[in-house]
Amino acid sequence: MLESLDGFSVAATRQNAGRSPKGCAAAGEAAVPALRLTDVAASYGRREVVHSVSLSLAAHECLALVGESGSGKTTIARAVAGLHTAWTGTISLGGAELAVSARRRSGDARRRIQYIFQNPYGSLNPRRTVGQIVGQPLKVFGTAGGRDAARRVAQMLERVSLTSGYSRRYPDQLSGGERQRVAIARALVCDPTVLICDEVTSALDVSVQAAIVELLGNLQRDLGLSMLFITHNLPLVRSVAQRVAVLSEGRIVEVGDVGQVLADPGQPYTRQLLSDTPSLETAIAEAGLAEPPADTSGR
Ligand SMILES: Nc1ncnc2c1ncn2[C@@H]1O[C@H](COP(=O)(O)OP(=O)(O)OP(=O)(O)O)[C@@H](O)[C@H]1O
Ligand SMILES: [Mg+2]
Repeated sequence: MLESLDGFSVAATRQNAGRSPKGCAAAGEAAVPALRLTDVAASYGRREVVHSVSLSLAAHECLALVGESGSGKTTIARAVAGLHTAWTGTISLGGAELAVSARRRSGDARRRIQYIFQNPYGSLNPRRTVGQIVGQPLKVFGTAGGRDAARRVAQMLERVSLTSGYSRRYPDQLSGGERQRVAIARALVCDPTVLICDEVTSALDVSVQAAIVELLGNLQRDLGLSMLFITHNLPLVRSVAQRVAVLSEGRIVEVGDVGQVLADPGQPYTRQLLSDTPSLETAIAEAGLAEPPADTSGR
């Protein structure tokens, strides 16, 4: 059941078969991964914490990255976004190699990779209104101004189920779930191709986690996004991702279809991760998540 650790060719073909998200790639386009990491190693000072990671994210695919605390998930995500710069290897976006640091990447490359952080309390500027926060990337990337920008902000707020009245509020006038919706709207306002979600529900109350995950799943499908979904919460993986990559001490130890990996893990480390998680049924019930449909596409 263990796919090649790169896992792209088999999985991309299977994941895209029978799926028709908006703008779904033609067969030829699907052959180029949205994101490909080849032999990526990352360090803090002299300590290497991510070792020779190779991984692909297909167009329109959600890949979950799981692993124990400290296994290197955030470091990989920050390297992809060019926020962590001490890394070697190759990261390509749509087939084009990325510079190590976001500062050295083109505006278009930066626009196309967006990051939603774990903590919606720290990631939104408290002195800006919701409208200014969601509209800021439009200014930074020169995508839209004036009325077009205001219209786009209103559209994005609606997409994340916030009324346009929210645009005048400040972050401290919002609940955690609403803040995370604002962060999602900000990430999506400039039409990215790759969305990185790093533990985006772990700071939220359990009662709102399911709604945020459902929103992200719907947006990923409707907008045809490629999503790297980082989480500790394995039941969430099942409800949002098609494939999962398991990270242990900075190395990928298993990559495969979510249904297969969770039902029949090929590695002892994955089995341990699963046994440390509450039973799927308990966690699904607690988070208010619906069981995914039993179709073979794994969604
Ligand atoms: N700023 C830093 N300076 C030094 N070491 C760091 C720094 N950030 C992370 N590390 C170390 O790098 C390793 C990987 O950390 P990372 O944050 O990527 O793990 P993670 O899988 O995201 O963990 P968690 O699930 O707790 O968020 C850990 O050993 C951590 O201690
Ligand atoms: Mg982390």
